[in-house]
Amino acid sequence: MKGLILSGGKGTRLYPLTYTSAKQLIPVANKPVLFRVIEAIRDAGVSDIGIVIGDTGPEIREAVGDGSRWRVNITYIPQTAPLGLAHAVKISRAFLGDDRFVMFLGDNVIQGGISPLLAQFATSDYNAQVVLTRVAEPEHYGIAELKADGSINQLIEKPKNPSSNLALVGIYMFDHHIFEAVEAIQPSWRGELEITDAIQHMVNVGLHVHPYVHTGWWIDTGKPIDMLAANSLVLQEIPPSIEGTVDAESRIEGAVTIGKGAEIINSVIRGPAIIGEGTQVVNAYIGPFTSIYHHCHIEQCEVEHCIILEHSEIVDLDTRLEDSLIGRHVEIKRSPMKPRALKMTLGDHSKVGVL
Ligand code: DAU
Repeated sequence: MKGLILSGGKGTRLYPLTYTSAKQLIPVANKPVLFRVIEAIRDAGVSDIGIVIGDTGPEIREAVGDGSRWRVNITYIPQTAPLGLAHAVKISRAFLGDDRFVMFLGDNVIQGGISPLLAQFATSDYNAQVVLTRVAEPEHYGIAELKADGSINQLIEKPKNPSSNLALVGIYMFDHHIFEAVEAIQPSWRGELEITDAIQHMVNVGLHVHPYVHTGWWIDTGKPIDMLAANSLVLQEIPPSIEGTVDAESRIEGAVTIGKGAEIINSVIRGPAIIGEGTQVVNAYIGPFTSIYHHCHIEQCEVEHCIILEHSEIVDLDTRLEDSLIGRHVEIKRSPMKPRALKMTLGDHSKVGVL
């Protein structure tokens, strides 16, 4: 069995954070989503993993390396343009050979890993297995219509008027028949070779595509609100640990993780929350569902339900920062200059909500 992770694409819905960096490397509970995907595949017993990369390939290679950190072998498969998930499968044929494989979208986070799913597929005679889950807004996903006997009737990519609320989760298992299917289909209205169409082709020619309905949580971290939701869910599953220093004036409540070299001074941290390595929290309140990555400085302010990326500084705010996704090396500080006004340098597509 091999693993294939799709980590190309553009990440436009996470602009401006993804102008300069890969969306799959944005951390959820202080660990990049892509690393969580690699660990889920490794934990299911698969050590030969291909990663499809696009424009952000150099950054992904730099972050992941040869995979030895996870005791897996990584092969990079460059894709010239994001021409669709089925196109990514097509260009990975030499790597995949005739092995059965699991394909995992590099921006998906799923509860409970994929070990039982993969074990089931490995010992079955299914030609493919898709993972489905019930969602509130099926029009944003590929969806599956099932027959009364539970088998697949039809798969439709982002339907305008969905006839089912069962979405295709970004985890798929295939045998070699998928290669005939990706050759047989045509690009969709959005100009992509859709994996949904390729799987529909497998169904149409009578191959056995098994639908597995997942009941735990699953998040496609496509938009900032999804990143915050995934962050909250993952934080609740992390066993607390304190490796940094907490002074006598500070209070730690609930499940809190504090990384090596982090310093908590005269502050309150209410979990679930995580403070990264070398981060300083001084005279501050960090509320539930907050992840602050490494080497940040948070002083004299209140932060809750936020993701703050590395090397950012948030100092001396008189309003609480909430529901926010803050990038790398960002500074939010009180300006000493007169006149007293908001002074900002923001990237394209930034969003600021002022009082
Ligand atoms: O997340 C589940 C959904 O993923 C499914 O319900 C849909 O059926 C499926 O088409 C897919 O939809 P998205 O529109 O969310 O896919 P997205 O373009 O965000 O790409 C998913 C991942 O695959 C992302 O990590 C980027 C990568 N990718 C994407 C394309 C189009 C590639 O590596 N190459 C590509 O050509």
